[in-house]
Amino acid sequence: MEKIKNEKIKNEKIKNENFTDIEKENISKNIKNISFTTVDIEMNKLIQIQNDAQNMSSRCRIGNNIVDYYTFTERLKTKGKYDVNYYEFIANLDYFKQKKFIQNMIHYYETTKNKNKTKNEYIVLKEIYNICISAINIIRPLVYMEIYSKYKPKCILDFCAGWGGALVAACALNVDTYIGIEINNKLKNGYDNMQTYLKTKSNTNINMIFDDALQVDYDKLYYDFVFTSPPYYFIQKYENNPVYSSKQEMDNLFYIPIFNKVYTSLQPNGYFIINICKEVYDNVLIKLFGEAHEVYPYKKSKRQNDYNEIIYVWKK
Ligand SMILES: C[S@@+](CC[C@H](N)C(=O)[O-])C[C@H]1O[C@@H](n2cnc3c(N)ncnc32)[C@H](O)[C@@H]1O
Repeated sequence: MEKIKNEKIKNEKIKNENFTDIEKENISKNIKNISFTTVDIEMNKLIQIQNDAQNMSSRCRIGNNIVDYYTFTERLKTKGKYDVNYYEFIANLDYFKQKKFIQNMIHYYETTKNKNKTKNEYIVLKEIYNICISAINIIRPLVYMEIYSKYKPKCILDFCAGWGGALVAACALNVDTYIGIEINNKLKNGYDNMQTYLKTKSNTNINMIFDDALQVDYDKLYYDFVFTSPPYYFIQKYENNPVYSSKQEMDNLFYIPIFNKVYTSLQPNGYFIINICKEVYDNVLIKLFGEAHEVYPYKKSKRQNDYNEIIYVWKK
């Protein structure tokens, strides 16, 4: 019911944004103006941290700026509640301002939180979007480093590569090979630039494939470790992703075939690790592979704790 209501709002009232690519890049830079120097400092710190990631505070954000530098502009295209992404949110601000909860937030920022105007309007609106619509989080490179340090993979397969934190972590630890698969080819340019940079810092062999993970021939790939974070049903809608009409359809057309294919070609004794919501674990994973051999929530800041993400580990 809620979904139908949301789509109705979207169809009738929300107009498409028509920012150019350059305008989108400027908007994203107004929110996060990250310099290349910062990127390089953070990468050097990750390289220093090496296998010590598990001893870092869950609040530590070292490495996030590397991910954001290369992919944040695209991440802002991800749609949250109301089927709206950040660019659409700001293009439809007059409409959203009619909503009491948005009005209240804007008032709170004007009178209290940002009364000294230390944050520009794009940052304020991003914070309001995060709270009222959806925070499009990344998995921090340090989280990937913690997992990689624990299981010591040689060849990582990440079949829903997303924003790039996994690649950054693999390179910081000089893992032999990282294979990333991502359906959203709008991320290709960012990944190309990220790879060019990472190759100056690391010997990791990088194989980025921009394709539907369902179309890849896994028999032709060698990997002893799978760790990925697929979409969690329809919580967020990523750019250039297929649309499924129901959870069951997504189970049958996406989760079941992709988990089966990837697991089949995983090397014996390899690890199969999926970061996903409990609903997909219960509906799909447990039926395919039995109960996970290890389960744990990864460290997050308190602010993000309402997000029900769990890491499930199977050893083949
Ligand atoms: C939750 S995001 C991953 C976020 C990532 N764990 C991170 O924090 O950086 C899921 C990603 O899976 C990608 N994806 C969805 N369906 C896919 C498919 N069939 N093949 C490859 N990638 C897919 C989406 O485009 C999206 O980038």
